[in-house]
Amino acid sequence: MTDLKKKKVMMLCLGNICRSPLAEGVFKHCVENSKYAGMIEVVSAGTGSWHVGDRPNASSIKVAANNGVDITGQRGRQLSASDLNEFDLILGMDRDNLEDLNQLGSGKAETDYFMNYAGVEGVDVPDPWGQSIDAFEGVYEMIAKASPAILERLMER
Ligand code: 4NP
Repeated sequence: MTDLKKKKVMMLCLGNICRSPLAEGVFKHCVENSKYAGMIEVVSAGTGSWHVGDRPNASSIKVAANNGVDITGQRGRQLSASDLNEFDLILGMDRDNLEDLNQLGSGKAETDYFMNYAGVEGVDVPDPWGQSIDAFEGVYEMIAKASPAILERLMER
């Protein structure tokens, strides 16, 4: 399968240093250990511009590493309107992320809340920025549990 036919998924949060880098890393790991290995491109972005070019937050890096996922190669990027036509699926971590995304207009991309797409309605992935490592572990647990459900929904339609 060529790159052009890969499904393209974007994980979206506010800063692109805490939640969405974890979601990118964990979901990628989930894809590459499944029968869909090589079939999906996964990236992440933030609605804000403060952390463009930055590495993920140290606690996100640590929690990922503790679970066998290396996210140190990621660098912050900001969402742009063209992403709405570039991606097949864009998943926002919380209500604000999705509102900001939908304000950019619409395109071919399906947009949804991360947890909603995984079948858990009305739940935000809470922003752990500035909080203890426990908060990051909580975010990891939510993302790790949701990722297989997201993968099945994306591929089995
Ligand atoms: P994230 O967390 O959206 O999960 O990456 C944040 C990181 C940075 C900021 C806000 C949220 N900030 O305001 O710089």
